[in-house]
Amino acid sequence: MRSKVIAGNWKMNKDADESVELINGLLTRGAEIPAAVTVVLCPPFTSLAIAHRLLDGSPFFLGAQNMHYEDEGAFTGEVSAAMLKSVGCSYVILGHSERRQLFGETNELVNRKLRKALASGLTPIVCVGETLEEREREVTEQVISVQLKGALKDVSEADVARTIIAYEPVWAIGTGRNATPDQAQDVHRFIRKLIGQMYSWTTAEKVVIQYGGSVKPDNAAGLLGKPDIDGALVGGACLKVESFFGIVKATSL
Ligand code: PGA
Repeated sequence: MRSKVIAGNWKMNKDADESVELINGLLTRGAEIPAAVTVVLCPPFTSLAIAHRLLDGSPFFLGAQNMHYEDEGAFTGEVSAAMLKSVGCSYVILGHSERRQLFGETNELVNRKLRKALASGLTPIVCVGETLEEREREVTEQVISVQLKGALKDVSEADVARTIIAYEPVWAIGTGRNATPDQAQDVHRFIRKLIGQMYSWTTAEKVVIQYGGSVKPDNAAGLLGKPDIDGALVGGACLKVESFFGIVKATSL
């Protein structure tokens, strides 16, 4: 049985004080997290250290939204895997569509980051997803296949088993327009089959595949009830305690 993973991607929201307020609010609800569910908070870099201190001893895990693939050096503005670990991160989101579209991240770059994250003991959450134009041209599966094969190049079977894939259709991110549970399930199934072909079915069955894109408390249960949807990567709705917990608790509906 795969356990469910709900991750909150805060994106570029919440300064240090606002982060403290949100985390304190989330901590009051920690006891409500169902036993088989992992909850990961991914605040901006500037809030990771304070989040680490506040979350110590709590049931929440900490993640970052990006990282660089080198260990250290002259990479102005970048943050390494070791730096993330030093502030308590155990997860890192890689290849988010905003990184790909706004900051030019390629499959090759995502692959380098993924291999470094795995080598460093971080659990990567690798995002894939098609644009609206690609969905309308009916090339969703080809797009996902290129992204996934690119991201997983030279990644071992043991490592892929501990990699989380997030299917995030670009047209559903921040638009309020989410994929229907059946649309999402179809792509999740496709992703699992692809991993099965690339590695083995035993490994494919182990891989956690999250859905992301306008997940809200009122649509979460329908999505999370599908057999190949193992969690959610939540943007907008993770910025408020009530809506984030509405999604966390939908895992047990
Ligand atoms: P959204 O963002 O929930 O605001 O659509 C999801 C994401 O980009 O991870």
